[in-house]
Amino acid sequence: MSEWTRQSWREHIALQQPQYPDSGAVNRVEEQLAAMPPLVFAAETRALHAQLAEVAEGRAFLLQGGDCAESFAEFSAVNIRDTFKVIMQMAIVLTYAGRLPVVKVGRLAGQFAKPRSADMESRDGQSLPSYRGDIVNDAAFTATARVPDPERMIRAYHQSTSTLNLLRAFASGGLADLHQVNQWNLSFLASNPLRERYEAVAHSIQDALAFMEVCGINSDNTPTLRETHLYTSHEALLLNYEEALTRQDHLTGDFYDCSAHMLWIGERTRQLDGAHIEFFRGLKNPLGVKIGPSIEEDELIRLIDAMNPENIPGRLTLISRMGGNTLAEKLPALARRVQAEGRTVVWSCDPMHGNTVKAGNGYKTRSFDRILDEIRQFFLALRGEGAHPGGIHLEMTGQHVTECVGGAYQISEDDLKKCYQTQCDPRLNADQVLELAFCVADFLREETR
Ligand code: PEP
Ligand code: CO
Repeated sequence: MSEWTRQSWREHIALQQPQYPDSGAVNRVEEQLAAMPPLVFAAETRALHAQLAEVAEGRAFLLQGGDCAESFAEFSAVNIRDTFKVIMQMAIVLTYAGRLPVVKVGRLAGQFAKPRSADMESRDGQSLPSYRGDIVNDAAFTATARVPDPERMIRAYHQSTSTLNLLRAFASGGLADLHQVNQWNLSFLASNPLRERYEAVAHSIQDALAFMEVCGINSDNTPTLRETHLYTSHEALLLNYEEALTRQDHLTGDFYDCSAHMLWIGERTRQLDGAHIEFFRGLKNPLGVKIGPSIEEDELIRLIDAMNPENIPGRLTLISRMGGNTLAEKLPALARRVQAEGRTVVWSCDPMHGNTVKAGNGYKTRSFDRILDEIRQFFLALRGEGAHPGGIHLEMTGQHVTECVGGAYQISEDDLKKCYQTQCDPRLNADQVLELAFCVADFLREETR
C-alpha cells in the first residue's frame, strides 16, 4: 500500500464532492483553514476512543445523535441548549434504567455536508445542482444559490467553533450536574405524557444523590456528578475541509482530523478504493462507517480491515442502516461473520435512513414505530449472534418539530405541516427521542439481566 499523507486521498476517486467553479478560491480557503486552530484536541479524541473500546467490549452504550444537517439559518443558542439537554436526559434514562454507562456523541458542531442521490435537481423543467449542505451551497432553488461557494467552509468552521464552545460550557459549567435533573424536566416536559415516568427516574436519582451526600460524596469533591462529556461527530464527506483540519499531534506524531472527535463515512462513499477510505485510514480518530442492505460479508471484512487493520477495540463503529424490512434478513449473517473472523467493532444502529418514506401529502417522513422496531430487531439480531448491541445513531432535535409521525403524541401525516423545519431528513423531536430512550433502556436491561 502506498504511503498515507493528508493529501493522498486526492489520488483516488472522491464521490459526492461539489464542483467549485473557481479552484483558486478553493485553494485560498484551504490555506486559511489549515492555519486556523483545531476544533478538538487529540487527547480528547483518545479519551473517546477508550470509552468506545468499553462499548466494543459490551460494558458501555453509545448514544449518537443530532441534526441530519446543521444549518446557518437555524444556528442559535436555544437550539444548541435544547439538543444538549435532550441528549443528557436520554443518557440519564439509558444509564439509570439500562444500567450501563453511556458514551454521548453529538451529530453537531460540524455536521453540514450532505451526500445526495442525484447531482442535479429538476423542478418545473429547470435543472440545477443539488443542495449539498450549507457548507457547500444554499438550499434555495435558484441558479445563484446552488453554486458551490468555498467561503462557506470558513463559515461552517466558525459556526462549529461557537457551537462547540457552548457545548463545552454546558458540559463542564454545571448545566449537566446530576443535581439539576429534577429542575430540568419541570420546564422541559411540561405536558409530556412521559413526565411521570421521567420524574420517577429523576426522584430515584435524587434519593441516590442524597444518600451519597450523607456518605460524603458530592459535586464538590466528585466532578463526575457535576460534569459530563459530549463529544462531537459528523460525516467527513467534504474532503477539502477535513484535510485542512487534519493536524499532526505534537505528543504522539499521529494524525488527527481535528474537525470533530469522531468521524464517519456514509453509505454512498465507502468504496474500498475510494478517496474517503484512503483519507480515513491515516487518521487516529475513532471512525464510523454506515452499512446498508447492499453490503456483502466479504466486502464488510475488507472494509473493517481497511479502516482498522490492527483490530483495535473502539477504533471502528459499524453503523447499521438496513431498514426495518431488511435488517432481520441481512444483519445476523454479517454479525456472525464479524464474530467468526474475530474482528472487534462497535455495533450501532441507525434506524432512520432505512425507514424514510414520502407521506401522502408529499412530506418526507419516518414513523416512530418503524424506527423503534428496527432498534428492537437490531438488539435481537446481535444478541442472537452473541454480540453486543452497542449503540444508536439518531437524527433528532431538542425542538418540538413535527417531522416524524407517531410517538406518544401521535403525530399524524396531517400534523407534519405544523412545524416541519429540517434542512434535509426528518428528525425525531424532543418528546419522541425521550420516549425512544425509555424503550431502548428496557431493551438494554433485558440484555444486562
Ligand atoms: C446521514 O447520516 O445523514 C446519511 C446521509 O446517512 P447514510 O450515509 O447512511 O445514507
Ligand atoms: Co440524514
